[in-house]
Amino acid sequence: MYLITKKEVLNPTVTKMVVQAPFIAKKAQPGQFIILRVQEQGERIPLTIADYDREEGTITIIFQIVGRTTKLLNMLNEGDSILDFVGPLGKPTDIKNKKHVCVVGGGVGCAIAYPVAKGLHEQGAKVTAIAGFRSQDLVILEKEFQQVSDFHLISDDGSTGRKGLVTDVLKELIEAGEKFDEVIAIGPLIMMKFVCMLTKEYNIKTMVSMNPIMIDGTGMCGGCRLKVGDETKFACVDGPDFDGHLVDFDEAISRSRTYADFEAQERERECH
Ligand code: FES
Repeated sequence: MYLITKKEVLNPTVTKMVVQAPFIAKKAQPGQFIILRVQEQGERIPLTIADYDREEGTITIIFQIVGRTTKLLNMLNEGDSILDFVGPLGKPTDIKNKKHVCVVGGGVGCAIAYPVAKGLHEQGAKVTAIAGFRSQDLVILEKEFQQVSDFHLISDDGSTGRKGLVTDVLKELIEAGEKFDEVIAIGPLIMMKFVCMLTKEYNIKTMVSMNPIMIDGTGMCGGCRLKVGDETKFACVDGPDFDGHLVDFDEAISRSRTYADFEAQERERECH
C-alpha cells in the first residue's frame, strides 16, 4: 500500500497528490510514468510522474478527473493509501545537451510539461514555455513555470494571459527569430497534432508525449499501440515520447475516443 502524504486541489478538475513510494522515487526521471490501481477489481491507469523527491521517497502525481478510477482516486485523502503503484515505467525524456527548447503544454498536460521544463533548466538549457488553458480557473503550475522558463500563458477565452492558441505564440516566436533546437509538446492530441504540423513547416525537431489507454504497461497487451511512421509502437515500453512528425495522430485520436462514453457513464455511476 502506498501512503498519500499530501493532497492539493489545483483546480476544479485537477488534483495533485504526493505518494510515499521510495523505490520508485529512487529511480524516477522526467517523462516516466507509473501505473496505479485504486481497487482490487479496478482498472489500471497510467499517470506521468509530475515530480519526485529522492530524499523523502515520494512521487507527485497530478491527475484530471475524467473517469471512474480518477474519481475514486480523488476520493482518497491524506493518510489514505493507494492499492498498487508501479513504476517508474517508460523511457525518460531526453533532456541532455540541448541549447534552447520550447516546451508547449496544454491543460493538464502541463503537469507533465513542467518537470520536463524544470529538468531542461537544471541541465543548463534555455527554456521557453507556452502553456494553454481553456480559462483562468483551470490554470495550473504558473509560478513553477515562471521559475524555470521564459513563460507564455495562453487561454482560449482570454480570461488570463493572452487569448488564443499555443500555436499562435509558437509561430510568432519562430518567425521573430527564436532558434529552437527542439520543441516538446505535451497535451491534448489535437494540440500536439497542430504543433507538429507547424514545426514540420519550419523543420524543427518535435517530440510529443503520448498517453493512450494502457493495461499491463509491459508491452504485452497491445492496448497502448500507436502508429509511428511505418511502425507500430507501444507507448508503455517504446515511449511515452515519440517523434511528433511521425505519429499518426488521426488514428490515436480515433482510438482515444473508443471508451469516452463508457468513461462518462462510469464517472456518473460513481457520483450517485
Ligand atoms: Fe499493454 Fe502497453 S499497456 S502493451
